[in-house]
Amino acid sequence: MLGFVNQAIKDMVLSEFGSDSWMAICEDVQFLEKSFASQQDYPDLLTYQFVGSICKLKNMEVSEVLIAFGEYWVLKTAAPKYGILFRASGQTFAEFLEYLPNFHSKVMLFYPNINPPDFRVDKTAENQYRLFYFSHRQGLDAFVIGLLQGLAKFYDEKIETYFGAVGEEKANCVINIQILK
Ligand code: HEM
Repeated sequence: MLGFVNQAIKDMVLSEFGSDSWMAICEDVQFLEKSFASQQDYPDLLTYQFVGSICKLKNMEVSEVLIAFGEYWVLKTAAPKYGILFRASGQTFAEFLEYLPNFHSKVMLFYPNINPPDFRVDKTAENQYRLFYFSHRQGLDAFVIGLLQGLAKFYDEKIETYFGAVGEEKANCVINIQILK
């Protein structure tokens, strides 16, 4: 994954746990470089190793780390730099969600070489949506939950999410979303 993503993991570890933890994680996964080139593509394995190492060091579940990282990504990494992109894509959580399937094509204006996921969003009732997440990467479903929770906070709204049955779709997962009013 792009250096920009790995840098965000590093930033999260530094702000939540401090630099000693980051050094321990780098040693654990044998990452010997001092920093990430934000536009460079790093092997996905490295990103998964960082997550695994945080789990080991902090005695956390993978899903816990991924949810925390999803929230961090939206609120601390993306919003300060690309908040205007969020607002341009939707004035509310629901509007943004309906726009989400097109969102990474906008992101690709800044990062043309990424391999982003795909989404399908069905409105199932008033304030209820079903999100289909498609990616060649496995194991990141909880990251999507964290991203959605971060987006809800960005729009100052409250949501509940729970995994649904994938059914006939080739989706990695299906997430039912209820916007609380
Ligand atoms: C300004 C905001 C955002 C930016 C700049 C951004 C950018 C990126 C980048 C650079 C990657 C790595 C892809 C690669 O290296 O090949 C990525 C992956 C990903 N993005 Fe976004 N993204 C943003 C918002 C979102 C939002 C709001 C969601 C969903 C709610 C989302 C879902 C994901 C997921 C799940 C991945 C993991 C990769 C995968 O599933 O294959 N992103 N994004």
